[in-house]
Amino acid sequence: MHTPDSSNNYRQFPDNRQLGHIPGIDGWPWLGRTIAVVRDLYAVSKEHVQRFGPVSRIGLMGQTGLLVTGADLYQRIFQDSEQLFSCEKGYEQQLGAFYPRGLLLKDFDEHRAQRRLMQGAFKSAALQRYLEMMQPVIDTQVKAWGTHKHFVFYPAIKQLLLDIGTRCFLGIDNLGPESQRINDLFLDLNSGMISLMRIEAPFGSYGRAKRARRELESWFDSMIQQRRADPASGDDMLSHLCREVDEEGRPYSTQMIVDHIIFLLFAAHDTSTSALTHLAMYLGRAPDLQQRLRDEALFLGQAPLKHEDLARMPFAEHCFNESLRLHPPVPMMVRRTVRDCEMAGLQVPAHTVLYLPSMMNQRDPQWWTDPENFDPDRFAAPRSEHRRHPMCFNPFGSGAHKCIGMHFAMMMVKVFLHRFVLDWQFSTAPGYAPRLEWVPLPKPADGVPLRLRATSDIGADVEKP
Ligand code: HEM
Repeated sequence: MHTPDSSNNYRQFPDNRQLGHIPGIDGWPWLGRTIAVVRDLYAVSKEHVQRFGPVSRIGLMGQTGLLVTGADLYQRIFQDSEQLFSCEKGYEQQLGAFYPRGLLLKDFDEHRAQRRLMQGAFKSAALQRYLEMMQPVIDTQVKAWGTHKHFVFYPAIKQLLLDIGTRCFLGIDNLGPESQRINDLFLDLNSGMISLMRIEAPFGSYGRAKRARRELESWFDSMIQQRRADPASGDDMLSHLCREVDEEGRPYSTQMIVDHIIFLLFAAHDTSTSALTHLAMYLGRAPDLQQRLRDEALFLGQAPLKHEDLARMPFAEHCFNESLRLHPPVPMMVRRTVRDCEMAGLQVPAHTVLYLPSMMNQRDPQWWTDPENFDPDRFAAPRSEHRRHPMCFNPFGSGAHKCIGMHFAMMMVKVFLHRFVLDWQFSTAPGYAPRLEWVPLPKPADGVPLRLRATSDIGADVEKP
């Protein structure tokens, strides 16, 4: 088996830009095709595939790399049996300044060792506790949604998921203004990530993001000291990380836990918000699908869900999957080649950045029937279209870096949908077709305004059949 250069030499090389032999579009000086991608990544990806095939050159945010599509190529990249693709160097430009040393910024053996640190926080017993922690938060907030005069889904779900996060990740019931402060700091971090001026100045989004990172670090640092003073403390993710020890029985350093918890919050929050906001857009215009969800929820009853109930919500799972298929919250994964290799008959030099827009495989008519259509039943047997190729559906990634929070996300979405459809019948305006944004996270630009009607008021069947 090949191994990356034992001295990890590949890290020290700048990105390779010698890609003139590969067809593609460089775009504007420095900016490349950034503006077109921000407007519509899907349209740009389609254009590249139609004109140049599955591998093409593209300029983006000061980098020149390759746009790669195709389920077979993804299988090779994500399996990475030759340790040929670096996640760390792929994401470094995008995440390195604000999420340094997060799990996606680790490669190979070091990544494996650090991922181990987190496994305990995602085992079945831990997930069952998170389920108990999140239910009261969901119940209370979703019930209160009816008091909004003009209800917009996106800010409401963002707040709800933030509160679930502070409960399950940090073990804090009510952060009050501090919760808002954390939210603001993450907003600052994420706007710094997409800022074009990468200079730390007293003004501007880049400098603000750097200050936000420092504030978050010192906030988590003191939380970790408190947790360590009381090792038996909670069942939340941070407490799990504080109790974990490495193979020699040594606890992990405070800095390492700070880095991982900040990255976890980042990785968990906007992704789930994006997926649920798209789902609300589709369900708001499809009362029939909503009623099927309600029937499934009614069958389980009004009482808090137990872990085993989640397996009895196949339709909720198919709806969530269909939203992730059409609108993957991580719309473009990134890798960088460690050594020279060949792809689709082209010579790809070492240190070349690869952009991987997963929605291309997820909407490829080779695998999906009527791929642009929202049709959750495509995931149900016997159709099971997602099984037509191991890489035609990978909204959570695949291989060593596959999303560690996938089961947490699925659980949270099911618990949320159960409560939401039992309490509310909801609809978007007739003919609703919002503009879709891609940056900083994919979502309908207007946040999905919904008309909510209490199921109890309209006589919807909400008793267990
Ligand atoms: C709908 C929700 C989510 C989606 C679509 C999603 C998507 C992804 C994807 C695509 C990756 C892999 C990126 C790559 O290989 O380049 C990833 C990794 C990751 N996700 Fe998620 N995620 C979601 C929710 C969560 C949640 C809830 C958590 C934590 C509780 C989480 C934590 C992580 C972490 C830590 C990684 C890095 C894993 C590694 O490098 O080993 N994600 N996620």
